[in-house]
Amino acid sequence: MKVLLIGSGGREHALAWKLAQSPLLTRLFAAPGNPGIGTVAELVALDPADHAAVIAFCTSESIDLVVVGPEVPLVAGIADDLAAAGIRVFGPSRAAAQLEGSKGYTKDLCAEARIPTAAYRRFTSAGPAKAYVGDRGAPIVVKADGLAAGKGVTVAETVDEAHAAIDACFEGALGTAGAEVVVEEFLAGEEASFFALSDGVTVIPFGTAQDHKRVGEGDTGPNTGGMGAYSPAPIVTPALAARVMDEIIRPTVSTMAKRDAPFRGVLYAGLMITAEGPKLIEYNVRFGDPETQVLMPRLDSDLLALLAAVADGRLAEMSPRWSDDAALTVVMAAEGYPGSHAKGSPIGGLDAAATIHGATVFQAGTALRDGRLVAHGGRVLNVTARGDSIAQAQERAYEAAAKIVWPEGFYRRDIGWRAIGRVVAG
Ligand code: AMP
Ligand code: GLY
Repeated sequence: MKVLLIGSGGREHALAWKLAQSPLLTRLFAAPGNPGIGTVAELVALDPADHAAVIAFCTSESIDLVVVGPEVPLVAGIADDLAAAGIRVFGPSRAAAQLEGSKGYTKDLCAEARIPTAAYRRFTSAGPAKAYVGDRGAPIVVKADGLAAGKGVTVAETVDEAHAAIDACFEGALGTAGAEVVVEEFLAGEEASFFALSDGVTVIPFGTAQDHKRVGEGDTGPNTGGMGAYSPAPIVTPALAARVMDEIIRPTVSTMAKRDAPFRGVLYAGLMITAEGPKLIEYNVRFGDPETQVLMPRLDSDLLALLAAVADGRLAEMSPRWSDDAALTVVMAAEGYPGSHAKGSPIGGLDAAATIHGATVFQAGTALRDGRLVAHGGRVLNVTARGDSIAQAQERAYEAAAKIVWPEGFYRRDIGWRAIGRVVAG
């Protein structure tokens, strides 16, 4: 099978690394990719926003399957355009991608299908939204409806903070993403990422993980795209996973089918595990980043066979196998991230890091300059390791991270603290 992978982050490096191990694979292309992806795939200088160019490439190279990594091309309808051109694709249609593209859409679906989630209201102007906040009080959560690259959510501690977030949205701080706003109840609990594959009819669980969204140790400071993760998530016990499938995932997939927007791809549920049970915070219609970097090292089955089965509607034939090992990834980011940060500083030591038992370094925001690897983004490397426990994976990941030579980078020293604390406390 000839495969084209769309994307350029650490998530796509982990997907490419796993796809490259498939006995079904004959050639792997990535557009636009990054230098790490370039070690396992042929990089193609295509702009994923240019659907006609992607289709032309797939036709000329006889691509058998396109795997779409990020949400932006999915919400823009790349899966519909590829399917219309007769090209097989892993990733939901534009209509099904509304689960990530519009928070209001997902909240209304939860209401219709009685899926547990935070109480909410949708607003198209500031006055009524502020009045609602006044009625409900703080803490309260304000969300821009559309895609905002992780910047659309404000967990407001005070009514004033919520009002400021509402004003910012309607004043255009987030562009069209903020033209509509969801205000919702604050949920207390522990967060977990839950993944499921769906071909529109069949849906199967596809692993759990926990991310670390805040930039600082002890989960402090501003939100980021994710500073580290581990898998599995110990809080998601088999009994809890069964509840998530019954109460959240299956009702979503069956409601989407009823709406003539069958969901084909990977559904990523951001969950809050509350005292009352699991509740949906939000959906993403793609793999998580950095969660994929800890799921792929644990997947024993052939990823390509699974993704092709999703695209073909044959998921009922598949049952993914996972290693009993845990995996943990530490994100190395450029000094200053998530604020402004410099590009171009040289990075060394990747080969030394990879010699640590069980370790793999996935690249995210990197580039090659005169043959040298340099930083080219905020989140730059994902230093990942497997181990027979989260504690062992953590020890190996930090041992590998210590081999990286990049003075302009930084990382959290406490990735995994919650899971490891749980084991000790238990
Ligand atoms: P998002 O950018 O949509 O992933 O949301 C960012 C973060 O905001 C989530 O990971 C949660 O930590 C937090 N969050 C979102 N909705 C709620 C809620 N209703 N209650 C508490 N925290 C929330
Ligand atoms: N780990 C957060 C995300 O992928 O959106």
